[in-house]
Amino acid sequence: MSLNSANWCSTVEINMKIALINGPNLNLLGQREPDVYGNQGLEEINNELQTLFPEITFSFFQSNSESEIVNFVHTLKVDYIVINPAAFTHTSVAIRDAILGVGIPFYEIHLSNVHAREEFRHKSYFSDKAKAVICGLGKDGYSAAIQHIVKNT
Ligand code: DQA
Repeated sequence: MSLNSANWCSTVEINMKIALINGPNLNLLGQREPDVYGNQGLEEINNELQTLFPEITFSFFQSNSESEIVNFVHTLKVDYIVINPAAFTHTSVAIRDAILGVGIPFYEIHLSNVHAREEFRHKSYFSDKAKAVICGLGKDGYSAAIQHIVKNT
């Protein structure tokens, strides 16, 4: 399969569905600790991803509520989940179980390098089951995961 770096989908036929899930407080991207999380808002980041990967059908979802994320995961009929569980990374057996329950492969993303931060951020309830974990690349972590999915599918 040949890929062109300007537009990862332009030279391949893709009929792929990806759910991109962001957890609590990521609706505040752009204003929330910009030195840690960057200056761009979540809507802008999502729009960029859709532009970069026009042939992928995305389901974009953000919630501050654990139960809403669990319920959303239960509805999914997608090929992959790309998730930044945010603070739920370090606490949520429920979201972990939901993703394992639907059996959809997933990538775990963090904008910041969680391992260079407080100790409580070093523990993840997702990493041992994720296809890959990307942290510290800012918003580029999302596109890196999607590029990897496209290349390997
Ligand atoms: C985060 C890291 C988490 O520890 C934190 O609670 C977040 C965002 C990240 O993207 O770097 O909300 O997942």
